[in-house]
Amino acid sequence: MAEQRTSIHGQWSSRFAFILAATGSAVGLGNIWKFPYMAGENGGGAFVLVYIACIALVGLPIMMAEVMLGRRGRQSPINTMRTLAREEGRSGLWQYLGWGGVIAGFFILSYYSVIAGWTMAYFFRTIGGTFDGVTAEVAGQVFGNLVSDPERLLAWHTIFMVLTTVVVSRGVEHGLEKSVRFLMPALFIILILLVGYAMSQGAFMQGVHFLFDADFSKLSADVVLKAMGQAFFTLSLGMGAIMIYGSYLPSDASIARTTFTIVVMDTLVALLAGLAIFPIVFGNGMTADQGVGLIFKVLPIAFGQMPMGTVFGGLFFLLLLFAAWTSAISLIEPAAAWLVENHGMNRIYAAVACGMAAWLLGVGTVLSFNLWAEVTLFDKTFFDLMDYLTSNVMLPLGGLSIALFAGWAMSRNASQDELRLKLSYHLWRFLIRFVSPVLVALVFLNAIGVLSFGRG
Ligand code: PHE
Repeated sequence: MAEQRTSIHGQWSSRFAFILAATGSAVGLGNIWKFPYMAGENGGGAFVLVYIACIALVGLPIMMAEVMLGRRGRQSPINTMRTLAREEGRSGLWQYLGWGGVIAGFFILSYYSVIAGWTMAYFFRTIGGTFDGVTAEVAGQVFGNLVSDPERLLAWHTIFMVLTTVVVSRGVEHGLEKSVRFLMPALFIILILLVGYAMSQGAFMQGVHFLFDADFSKLSADVVLKAMGQAFFTLSLGMGAIMIYGSYLPSDASIARTTFTIVVMDTLVALLAGLAIFPIVFGNGMTADQGVGLIFKVLPIAFGQMPMGTVFGGLFFLLLLFAAWTSAISLIEPAAAWLVENHGMNRIYAAVACGMAAWLLGVGTVLSFNLWAEVTLFDKTFFDLMDYLTSNVMLPLGGLSIALFAGWAMSRNASQDELRLKLSYHLWRFLIRFVSPVLVALVFLNAIGVLSFGRG
């Protein structure tokens, strides 16, 4: 019986600890670094609206499904899927869902670590006073200097990967859980402070309009795909991170309620980040389409002008580093847990092996900002390719498979037994069987041009 299954890796000490850890996984660079520049590059309001719709109609039900599968299987995603498929009398091929997730995790972590490295570099620049009274132009140069230097990027990338490996090697209770307890509230507070600063700037309403006025002429099939990809990415969905965190969830916790809390917090953080950043962008005569460097070019201007900016700025980049850290550990936890389960590897070796593999792959991203900047495939640099492939292809496909398994391959008894919902079970089941998979499939088909609505 699934009831008796326990995880060999341990368990969260409480429902609250799970919320913290899963929020730690969800809230990260995706919210504060990626969401603003994606919104900025893809026209603002319309992108944000599609993103929020995807969070609600696709992200929320799939996150519930992913936690549910994890808790029922209580193993790494690969073994969980194998066990559950067998239990439901389904094909063993479902375990490849777990494998896809492991690969996506490595791909994402490889570049995630490089960007997290930027936050460390920025922490030191900020407290060192580099940005005192800085102009938009100089802030842009500082960013340019950083990313054009492969040695610096490599050094920070290495340090971040070591940090990640250390936490994963310490395991569920001691490594993962502790780090998020004070970090999340602190991050919230400093974001609100930044929004407060943005409000005191002339261009606050311009930022608000940019983020929330939907101009549908800016939508295209590709923009919709990106908004959906961002929804998966920001919620850590579709690759097994949430599944494995679910496998450490105590049996008596409500999956629906915990999931809802996580999704709301994640969305709030992204919107707050947008509200903090765009007023500063417009207030300083910059454009929204600054790409991956957006927050690094924009926020230093604010920190350079506000009273005690070195302190707040330093704190901000430190917290962002922590947010990235608590996400990064969830990216290799599925692979590390699998090595422990199937190869009897000691957790420390497993973590180190995973960290090294992701590190090596990350060298490609390091170089894509400088020496390999001109090396492209399908018009994309190594970094772009990793990002596009994971966010826009692998995570949505993983999420689609999770929806299909939870909604169609799994018996109603099993999912009801695990979710323990009353009336809302029917709503969830309707969403997971029909709405989420159909929406994901439509966005895909639309993007590869099989259907061509939405092109205006
Ligand atoms: N959700 C994380 C973020 O927004 C990134 C992530 C994606 C983490 C997938 C785990 C799995 O930064």
